[in-house]
Amino acid sequence: MTTTAKPKAGLEDTVAASSEICYLDGERGVLAYCGYDIHDLARHATFEEVCHLLWHRRLPTRAELGDLQSQLAAARPLPEGLLRLMRTLPAGDGMDALRTLTSALGHYDPDVTDHSARANYRKAVRLTAQMASIVATMGRMNGGGGPIQPDPVLGHAANFLYMLTGERPSGLATRAFDVALVLHADHELNASTFAARVAAATLTDIHSAIVAAICALKGPLHGGANADVMRLLLEIGQSAPLEKAEEVVRAKLARKEKIPGFGHRVYHTEDPRATHLRQMSRDLGQRAEQPIWYEMSERIETVVKSEKKLNPNVDFYSASTYYALGIAIELFTPIFAVSRVSGWTAHVLEQYANNRLIRPRAEYIGPQYPQRYRVIEER
Ligand SMILES: CC(C)(COP(=O)(O)OP(=O)(O)OC[C@H]1O[C@@H](n2cnc3c(N)ncnc32)[C@H](O)[C@@H]1OP(=O)(O)O)[C@@H](O)C(=O)NCCC(=O)NCCS
Repeated sequence: MTTTAKPKAGLEDTVAASSEICYLDGERGVLAYCGYDIHDLARHATFEEVCHLLWHRRLPTRAELGDLQSQLAAARPLPEGLLRLMRTLPAGDGMDALRTLTSALGHYDPDVTDHSARANYRKAVRLTAQMASIVATMGRMNGGGGPIQPDPVLGHAANFLYMLTGERPSGLATRAFDVALVLHADHELNASTFAARVAAATLTDIHSAIVAAICALKGPLHGGANADVMRLLLEIGQSAPLEKAEEVVRAKLARKEKIPGFGHRVYHTEDPRATHLRQMSRDLGQRAEQPIWYEMSERIETVVKSEKKLNPNVDFYSASTYYALGIAIELFTPIFAVSRVSGWTAHVLEQYANNRLIRPRAEYIGPQYPQRYRVIEER
């Protein structure tokens, strides 16, 4: 069969899967995981509760939450071979390292040859626990420190900050980081989740599907934007007057450059995640006695809204939020993955449970068929 349908560029508005996991309404600015509004989850839930929700489609009881916390804690220590590999990687992009190390995790997984639903669930839990340990340890090693063993008493957010800094985090830092994890956990068929589902639909293993997702997340049009936002703020400079932020952004727009952290394929109104991150950026900036990054961000938001009618997305205020928490820029996008792995694995498990190979068609726009084949001497 030949196809004549014209695709919408970037598959805009194309419904490519049925899913129970995430509800998005871009007109009303609604995001809900399994029916629970993101605002309620951001105010009340922990990341572990959200993991349970995404994987089982319901919030856990206290006993179920305790079980999940124990499973995550047990899976957090990294295999010695992985730590050795980590030490041999040349310094460079955090997402490159995360891609390589997540791929390597597959070699050490005790269920590597078991592709049953139960084993895949165990691997989803381990990937979520271990990717956090990888990113925290990577941050620690980049700063010249040695790896820190996880503390089984701590929750996911607090343990990450502990393994990163070597210090017990404050309640405020823990809650802020936990909320950031909750906000980034899932977002329907975004590019990286779609990549994971396409890979999973070939019935490849879950580690391979998550590596595909990491590769897609890295790009500056997706998760890479949060690091670009912070680079832009630093380029403007903390001692420059706020007017300089306006000048820099107006000049970029005049050159038709995109401003990282703005615009979205689905939301035509405020991204509900940005509402929380804006407030966190302000509160944490004040606490850290560095309100400038929030003030600069706010000024940029005003300019981009008035010039381009574009709203900030999840990446815009997460940049200054992470910076106020003292996190290095090269960890910003890997931290996105530390949270999103919960959604990726939920989607991969859903794909496996009701699978059909994802194999769309392309509209052919190349040279007319048939071309006469000429031997090389005649070309
Ligand atoms: C998110 C994004 C990739 C969505 O892309 P999309 O739906 O394909 O939208 P387009 O890139 O086609 O943009 C539509 C229009 O808005 C403009 N636009 C979109 N995002 C912009 C931005 N961040 N800065 C300036 N202009 C932007 C485009 O230039 C285009 O304008 P035009 O019609 O005059 O050419 C896009 O908004 C973007 O590149 N944002 C910056 C990167 C980013 O923050 N990514 C994280 C997403 S969560």
